Amino acid sequence: MDIITVETQPIAGQKPGTSGLRKKTRTFMEPHFLENFVQSIWTGIGGVAGKTLVLGGDGRYFSDRAAQVILRMAAASGAARIIVGQNALLSTPAASHLIRKHGTDGGVILSASHNPGGPDGDFGVKFNTPNGGPAAENVTSKIHAASEKITTYRIMEAQDIDLATLGTKSLGRTEIEVVDPVADYAELMEEIFDFDAIAALFAGGFRMRFDAMHAVTGPYAHAILETRLGAAPGTVVNGTPSPDFGGGHPDPNPIWAKDLMDAMHGADAPDFGAASDGDGDRNMIVGRNCYVTPSDSVAVLAANATLAPRYAGGLKGVARSMPTSRALDRVALRLECNAYETPTGWKFFGNLLDAGRATLCGEESAGTGSDHVREKDGLWAVLFWLNILAARKIPVAELLEDHWRTYGRNYYSRHDYEGVDAETAAALIDDLRARLPDLPGQTVAGQEIEWADEFAYDDPVDGSRAEQQGLRLATRPGGRIVFRLSGTGTEGATIRVYLETEETDPAKLDRDPQEALAGIVAVADAVSGLSERTGRTAPDVIT
Ligand code: G6P
Ligand code: ZN
Repeated sequence: MDIITVETQPIAGQKPGTSGLRKKTRTFMEPHFLENFVQSIWTGIGGVAGKTLVLGGDGRYFSDRAAQVILRMAAASGAARIIVGQNALLSTPAASHLIRKHGTDGGVILSASHNPGGPDGDFGVKFNTPNGGPAAENVTSKIHAASEKITTYRIMEAQDIDLATLGTKSLGRTEIEVVDPVADYAELMEEIFDFDAIAALFAGGFRMRFDAMHAVTGPYAHAILETRLGAAPGTVVNGTPSPDFGGGHPDPNPIWAKDLMDAMHGADAPDFGAASDGDGDRNMIVGRNCYVTPSDSVAVLAANATLAPRYAGGLKGVARSMPTSRALDRVALRLECNAYETPTGWKFFGNLLDAGRATLCGEESAGTGSDHVREKDGLWAVLFWLNILAARKIPVAELLEDHWRTYGRNYYSRHDYEGVDAETAAALIDDLRARLPDLPGQTVAGQEIEWADEFAYDDPVDGSRAEQQGLRLATRPGGRIVFRLSGTGTEGATIRVYLETEETDPAKLDRDPQEALAGIVAVADAVSGLSERTGRTAPDVIT
């Protein structure tokens, strides 16, 4: 088989963002675009000669072609072995697990997470390091630098590798091992949770609906929930991965998983509902007539963690991203364990997990996970909830109420303004940043600003510093507002406004969150001039 060296030149815009390189699928399909980036990954990690990598993704449109290109490029650059999920499928947490389990040199994940797929949707390529987590800044900056200097890439001329049948094949001298994407992951889940208790719960008539949103978790959920745990057939809906996610938006939130929300609020609602995103790392948890915010979810998991066998000995610490509500901090205070506040992006948890400082992590963006892998993990969160419900034997709504009575409630919501003109959005942030020092002491929309700053993070493990990670304001009655621009969009800018107020009065724990937050919403608008600057009267998405 011939290895050919193809002349190319740098293509602008190959800087990995919050989670790998994400672009329109058509951009990835342009000549040399994918190849340039993949060769830049190889360069950025010091070459792949003699190395073992994991490869897989969420099965979105173009994944099958991209996987073949990556295999041929890995072979051309001398990789020893590539472990690839059958049909190039691997959920992100399952890929992370395989990287760790086999002690590989990392892996390439093909996904744009919760963004829609298809020829007009999005595509993405992410490199994960040997710890199983998304590459940190020091690696992604090398990849980006390589993409700016590239002149050639190497690729093998070969027939497509059969990725549909399991087993070991070869591509030149590179071994290609096609593995069942589910088996190892399911085994790991069985080690973490009390499968007997969950199976007994289902055997007792507990009903659940898991919406895989036509994405990668379908096969995992069928195998784990229905086959291993005995949930009734039909528990898993939209369980066959499709290249364009059934034309939908595979983001598990109340807007995009509206079918699930409706089912959970209907007359015949099951006991428990959950959904996961395109690549299986996000989760949404819903009880009967009761949506659980991701910020509350991680707090509940922390408070009840010892009910799951893996965490029975307690938590070393917990971590949340800065915009995530401080409900988790309240639990940490009681548990007397460390609580870390990191910038948005799962990669910032990596050092804390590796150093054994944190066991459990969570983000408002529907991500929850632990030190079992180095990615957030959708099905893991769902199984954790099931484990807790099996042990506590009360409905989700009651569990939440009990939690709020014990710890207080952090009313929380995120308001997103999508497709905003990039300059308008940047100017809004810049102007507010400039005014931050003057805000403390001022009264805005009836609330006094207590303090205001721009979040920066000093990593306690490697000493690195991340700046400009969101503008935050605290108000006197215990409110908090965070302004941040999304780092994952592919078009225009998305302004995210994160809103929170704390409530400990037992008589005020069951209010409608939007109503409870109305005051702080008014402060956010007045202080930033958001509606005036963008011409928007309401957010596009409320989570
Ligand atoms: C990805 C990352 C998450 C992060 C999220 C933020 O999903 O994996 O860790 O929280 O992006 O997205 P944003 O659009 O707010 O930058
Ligand atoms: Zn995802």
